[in-house]
Amino acid sequence: MKLTPPNLQIAFRNVTDVRHFFFYPTIGSTNDKAKELAQKGAEEGTLVVADCQTAGRGRLERHWFSPPGLGLYTSIILRPQVPAERAFGIHMAAALACVEAADAQHLQSVVGIKWPNDLVAEGCKLAGILSEVGLQGGLVEWCVVGIGLNVNHTHADFPPDLRDRSVSLRELCHRRIDRLEVLVQLLEALFPWYDRFLQGGIEALDPEWRRRSTLLGRTVRVETAGETYVGTALSLESDGALRIRLESGAEEVLHAGDVQLVQYR
Ligand code: BTN
Repeated sequence: MKLTPPNLQIAFRNVTDVRHFFFYPTIGSTNDKAKELAQKGAEEGTLVVADCQTAGRGRLERHWFSPPGLGLYTSIILRPQVPAERAFGIHMAAALACVEAADAQHLQSVVGIKWPNDLVAEGCKLAGILSEVGLQGGLVEWCVVGIGLNVNHTHADFPPDLRDRSVSLRELCHRRIDRLEVLVQLLEALFPWYDRFLQGGIEALDPEWRRRSTLLGRTVRVETAGETYVGTALSLESDGALRIRLESGAEEVLHAGDVQLVQYR
C-alpha cells in the first residue's frame, strides 16, 4: 500500500500506541519536525512520516539519503521520564524493533546491530537510527527516535559513494516490499521493547541486543573525535557506552565513534 494519509490511518487502527501521525510527501527532516512538535508538547506516540526528505540527518550531522518511494523515514516522539544517562535504552529498543521488522520480511541474510546506531546485513548498512532528547531536571522530557530504513532501493538507486556500503530489504529478499507493512511491523515491535525498557531498564534489553550485536566479542577499530582504538568489544555500559579491551590489556569506555570490524574471533 502507498504511503498516503488514508492508508496510514487504516494501518494504524490496530497500533494503539500511535496516538497521532503527521505525513509529509516531502519534508526537510522528520526528526526536525518531531522535535518541534515535542517541544510544543506533542504527546507520546506522535509519529512523523515522510515519503521523501530533503535534509535527512544522521549522526554527526551526516546526510541521510532519502529519495521518494524507496525508503522509510519516520520519527517517533516518546516521553520516558528516565534519567538522561539511561536514554540509550530507547535507542536499543528502536534497534531491536528494526531488526524484528526486517526479520518479518523473511530475509536470506542475518540482520545485526552495529553500535551505536546502525543496522547492517551482508556487511552493508540497512538502517540508521538517530535518537535526540530534550532534558528537564536530569530526566528525559522527550525523545525523538528517527529511523531511516532502506526498503526498496536497488544497488543503482544508491549514490556512488554509498553504493558499496548500503543495502536495502529489497536487495536482501529479491522482491519489492510494502513500506507501510514494514512501518506497522516496526511500530508493533517498538512499543513492547520500549515498555520492557521502562520496566526493566537497559538490562532487560541487553540479552537480545547482545545476541544481535555484530561487534561484541569481536576485534574492532573505533575512531573517535581525537583517537583511534583497536581492541575487543566487551560489553555495553549502563549508559550505552561501548567497553573495549585494548591490545595492551587496558579497558576503555567509548561513548561515540565510527566502528569497523577488524577480524572475527
Ligand atoms: C545514522 O545512520 O547516523 C542515523 C540516520 C537516521 C536517519 C533517519 S531518517 C528519519 C529521521 N529523520 C532524519 O533526519 N534522520 C532520521
